Amino acid sequence: MNLLKMGERNRVLMRSLFAYLIEHKKRLAFAVFSMLVLAAIRGIIVYILGPLIQTIFIDKNYSMLRELYIALPALFLIRFAAEYSNNYTMNYIGQKIVQRIRENLFSHIHALSMEFYWRKRSSDVMSRVINDLNNIQSTVQFIPLYGIRDVMTVLSLTFVLFYINWKLALIGAFILPVTSLALKKLGKKMRRSSKESQELVSDISHKFQESLQGIAVVKAFNYEKRAIEKFSATNDVYFSKMMRYLRATSISGPLMELLGSMILLAVIYAASGYIFSGQLKPAMFFSFIAAFFTAYMPLKNISNLNSKLQMGLASWDRIYQILEEKPVVIESPGAFRPEKIEGEIEFRAVSYKYPTSNDWVLKDISLKIRANEIAAFVGPSGCGKSTIIQLLLRFFDPVSGAILIDGRDLRDYDLKAYRQYVSLVTQDNILFDDTVYNNILVGNQSASHSEVEQAAIAADANAFITQMPNGYQTGIGERGVKVSGGQRQRLAIARAIVRRPRILLLDEATSNLDTASEQAVQNAIENVLGDKTVVMVAHRLSTVRNADKIFVLKNGSIVEQGSHEDLIQAQGEYKKLYSAQS
Ligand SMILES: Nc1ncnc2c1ncn2[C@@H]1O[C@H](COP(=O)(O)OP(=O)(O)O)[C@@H](O)[C@H]1O
Ligand SMILES: [Mg+2]
Repeated sequence: MNLLKMGERNRVLMRSLFAYLIEHKKRLAFAVFSMLVLAAIRGIIVYILGPLIQTIFIDKNYSMLRELYIALPALFLIRFAAEYSNNYTMNYIGQKIVQRIRENLFSHIHALSMEFYWRKRSSDVMSRVINDLNNIQSTVQFIPLYGIRDVMTVLSLTFVLFYINWKLALIGAFILPVTSLALKKLGKKMRRSSKESQELVSDISHKFQESLQGIAVVKAFNYEKRAIEKFSATNDVYFSKMMRYLRATSISGPLMELLGSMILLAVIYAASGYIFSGQLKPAMFFSFIAAFFTAYMPLKNISNLNSKLQMGLASWDRIYQILEEKPVVIESPGAFRPEKIEGEIEFRAVSYKYPTSNDWVLKDISLKIRANEIAAFVGPSGCGKSTIIQLLLRFFDPVSGAILIDGRDLRDYDLKAYRQYVSLVTQDNILFDDTVYNNILVGNQSASHSEVEQAAIAADANAFITQMPNGYQTGIGERGVKVSGGQRQRLAIARAIVRRPRILLLDEATSNLDTASEQAVQNAIENVLGDKTVVMVAHRLSTVRNADKIFVLKNGSIVEQGSHEDLIQAQGEYKKLYSAQS
């Protein structure tokens, strides 16, 4: 049963990989043609060897010499051209396919919903993109070479062997099935351990990445020793898994060699009989041996064919799993594309729980925010504020209930068309490895130069940007100029504003900052409020005082709502939180 299922999976994998290969039909056909030429030429060259020795060395017939000296170099040249063109073409196809898969992966990952990123570690995805793609490249490149070129070469040489003396050839062919059986057994073992070691590679790169990112914590807590110990443990496991795989691979080569020499001995022993009895010309025995030796490399490659295929399929399996992932946030067919959005928000009995947890984060939340209102969510950390913000972006859907935008279920909207009217500023905004200008432009790719500048001015960012070495064209991000936390937040606000959003989401945009920066970012936020719906989350209550409506969240429910003054007077949760802070 299990075996049957694995066979099914393999068929799916082979078919999908083949689809990539077949995209290069013409080149592939050319490569295959040159492989066939190569295989034939190899057979012809070894066959000619016998007659060559016979005429020149034994019959001493020098009249043939000139013809041979024209024919042979011509054959060598054709062999050279054929071999070069099939190597080159298969390399080309391999690279092209990997390029294509990489591109597909990149865009597919962007199509997936948040839920995917909760489930998958980024280092695991990275290891697939790097290691597994490498395996696939070598697989798609070598499988046709081994499977077509070398199989055809062996066939052509086998033909030569049988043509010269079929009885002798039979002896060589006799042991072949035995060999292939042994190799098949090895292949299975290799595939399993190859898969395990690939998974460990991802573990290793995850540990590396973790330490790189957390190096300050590691050092501050003298955690180096333990971190290294833990790393070594994984590293050790990887080593033994890899060795298991390599043991299987290392034996297949020598095994072939051993069998090859045994066969050779048998052939020479048998040949001596045929030569004495005159059934085989000694010169033709040279051709026979040459064909035998020439077959060795291709045979060896063919014996690796299975392990290569298994390794490639294991890798393709891991990549294909990602390509098979489906976004869980899906659009209804004929989704609504609004001309514009007013920005009215309503939650109707919204409940949410993360797929990985049993606790409900939001329980039966109902609320209304009118267009152009400023609403704030407050409450202890972990009470579900960011979850609300993410629901408003439709990163995921409520488990029950509905969110309505302008009176229409958010699930009815075209995702991109809706998000076009929404902007987000969080506490840890990513700046891409690009210029300041392009980082702001992320918010609105069709913004004009002056719109970008206006946004920066509104976000109080223009002043420090113009102080940078190249102004708006200064590179920032990982490899560029370092910006302070406050500057980063103001760039993020500029990015959010240049979009001219109808709904602005601010999730603790002023957290993680020192007091001075916090004030600067707060000023920037106040600059950009107005004529849009704003949903803000802040742990510092002084920043939400001016909100039209404040919602107090506790244990997944809204326990209070109203303006700052209302809530202070109510002497409830909000008052408690507020007094605790001031
Ligand atoms: N991706 C996730 N998977 C599982 N649980 C999550 C995830 N994100 C947040 N949570 C949990 O949901 C609850 C609410 O989180 P969040 O909305 O981020 O709270 P807040 O922003 O108010 O601090 C927390 O208990 C948190 O642990
Ligand atoms: Mg939060």
